[in-house]
Amino acid sequence: MKSTPSKFGKTPHQPSLWTRADALKVHADDPTTTQPLVSANFPVLSDEVFIWDTMPLRDIDGNITSVDGWSVIFTLTADRHPNDPQYLDQNGNYDVIRDWNDRHGRAKMYYWFSRTGKDWKLGGRVMAEGVSPTVREWAGTPILLNEQGEVDLYYTAVTPGATIVKVRGRVVTTEHGVSLVGFEKVKPLFEADGKMYQTEAQNAFWGFRDPWPFRDPKDGKLYMLFEGNVAGERGSHKVGKAEIGDVPPGYEDVGNSRFQTACVGIAVARDEDGDDWEMLPPLLTAVGVNDQTERPHFVFQDGKYYLFTISHTFTYADGVTGPDGVYGFVADSLFGPYVPLNGSGLVLGNPSSQPFQTYSHCVMPNGLVTSFIDSVPTDNTGTQIRIGGTEAPTVGIKIKGQQTFVVAEYDYGYIPPMLDVTLK
Ligand code: FRU
Repeated sequence: MKSTPSKFGKTPHQPSLWTRADALKVHADDPTTTQPLVSANFPVLSDEVFIWDTMPLRDIDGNITSVDGWSVIFTLTADRHPNDPQYLDQNGNYDVIRDWNDRHGRAKMYYWFSRTGKDWKLGGRVMAEGVSPTVREWAGTPILLNEQGEVDLYYTAVTPGATIVKVRGRVVTTEHGVSLVGFEKVKPLFEADGKMYQTEAQNAFWGFRDPWPFRDPKDGKLYMLFEGNVAGERGSHKVGKAEIGDVPPGYEDVGNSRFQTACVGIAVARDEDGDDWEMLPPLLTAVGVNDQTERPHFVFQDGKYYLFTISHTFTYADGVTGPDGVYGFVADSLFGPYVPLNGSGLVLGNPSSQPFQTYSHCVMPNGLVTSFIDSVPTDNTGTQIRIGGTEAPTVGIKIKGQQTFVVAEYDYGYIPPMLDVTLK
């Protein structure tokens, strides 16, 4: 394949800033930006495995796609260990909280299928043991490429290092279900460069992951979003006037917020197949505000670019805070400038009474937002919790200009297709 240099030899844009002033506008429990309470009586998808990040099969334009009437989702997945002596507490009871908290270290990509867009049936592991080059298979995006059922799965190969990779396979359907075949050769695409995106050598807590490829509806080119941190040694970042924004008197003290350096990264493909990528400067930075802008993704609506990303309370910087949930920004063109939705960026956060009820939200172009259940309190004091590791109720939001509104709630794990592809 011929690789042509992209036209972006030089910096094409200035990153947009999510400022401390923007983040001061974040308020938990505004009903228009708060996820309805999840009941502790939720059903679980499986007693054998935990699932968390959910990645619906889609096309390169972002449409959630079924094949021959079958919906398909990919999930980060880890075995549950109710009988493993390693996960028994001193009374011999299963320590599900510890098992759940350890899941990231053994995350594997699994898939599920359904006729109804819910009631998911487990298909199994996407890649056989030994195919993926690292211990952890972290989040990414499965893209249906054509009517032959070919799928490019972009994901993050983690430990050692963190590399954005892709693996190609095929979805095969029968009247009884779906199987995935192939997914045997993993191709490394790129890693953090230390110039635009922070490396492990610069910061042991660096983030570089969660690829989300897409075709720009305006220029027709292939790009990819990903999560990063702004390059530079840990502690060397400056939180200046631009990062602080227009704060009221008394809010100038930035504390130790220089340690929080999240960004939304972007790369452009030099080829049509998405095998050869060039990293570009971040679209959005959150230096002095937050350390993680995870699983970035777009909804293209009304000629605008709606950029969504998930973040946590614990990753906010000194002096600013907000709920775990999904945050959003909007621009008229791909490279910005981006402004925070709802003034603050907050689109759908957990209620303060159940701060960990859900996470890893994915806003789909039909306004439906899927997420997983993390933990829900089972008593009034919040000391007793029930671990989820399963799909949360889907939430409907309406996106209007620079605002969003929660408008509906649906069934657990409801991810209906937006289009169906009949395989040839
Ligand atoms: C979000 C996330 C992703 C990462 C995965 C690791 O929940 O932190 O950014 O790929 O989970 O388990």
